[in-house]
Amino acid sequence: MKKKVLVTYNMFREGYAELMSKYDVTIPEGDVETFSYEEVLEMIPDFDALLSMFNFPVDRRLIDTASSRLKIVSNYAVGYDNIDIPYCTEKGIQVTNTPDPVTEPTADQAFGLLLAVSRRISEVDRRMRIPGAVKVALLENLGHSLYGKTIGILGMGRIGQALARRALASGMRVVYHNRHRLSPDVEQKYEARFLPLGELLAIADVVSVNAPLTADTYHLIGEEELKKMKPDSILINTARGPLVDEKALVKALQSKQIWAAGLDVFEFGDFPLPELLSMDNVVLNPHTGTQTYEVRNEMAAYAARNIINFFEGKGPVAKVNMK
Ligand code: GLV
Repeated sequence: MKKKVLVTYNMFREGYAELMSKYDVTIPEGDVETFSYEEVLEMIPDFDALLSMFNFPVDRRLIDTASSRLKIVSNYAVGYDNIDIPYCTEKGIQVTNTPDPVTEPTADQAFGLLLAVSRRISEVDRRMRIPGAVKVALLENLGHSLYGKTIGILGMGRIGQALARRALASGMRVVYHNRHRLSPDVEQKYEARFLPLGELLAIADVVSVNAPLTADTYHLIGEEELKKMKPDSILINTARGPLVDEKALVKALQSKQIWAAGLDVFEFGDFPLPELLSMDNVVLNPHTGTQTYEVRNEMAAYAARNIINFFEGKGPVAKVNMK
């Protein structure tokens, strides 16, 4: 009998072609964007694999509702803070993620936000459309140059390193903070200097958050950390909203403790706190870090490959637990 795979989100089928040819795949169809949590709860006992989106909660209740048939949860994301990993491990469920396709586009997004914020690209574009809203003069609409400035990367994993490459190419200096210091050859590759968090915040012109969300990284940037940043500095977050204390960020921007921010993720769901909406020195994107035609299919194929390899006994491409 064919294995049964439940995909929570309606996606282009191209990336899932091989998965669909090999298994009995249930995926939302037509206008249905996603199965709800309640719908998945009802269906899950009949499935051998779950392919979940990064914001779909794979929690204790869902795992307890699944039968012993459920052997793999393949997350369509590099982040897996939506999944109760220890409980999956306890139940012998393999969890996988999609690091490779996500790395470069997320670094593009971080650097794109940085350019938009530092050169005020979105703000000036907005005002150009309103007659009389832009004054064209040499000392108007001034931004900050990136060349020669220092970027502090918090979380120097794959995405952090891909961002370091972009920053280096733009003539920036790279400092970083990470759970573990990188090996000397990797540090050399990015000309990157390891610093304790407080020291990094005190010297960086740009702070980019690229760490996973865990109990340890929750509010990695809070009131105290924002106070340590320079008044002309820029904060970029393309990782997960709760890494930054968003209420503290609002205060820091209002009181000009920092200069500007570029945010692709928010602490309290899909949208920012309303105070941020009226700030011209903030660029806001709805978590579009991996939102390209190419990457959507690449992530689907990668998440599918994890399941196919697992069922074919080859081992998933990217294991999160049970390594
Ligand atoms: C996106 O947020 C991801 O974790 O891949």
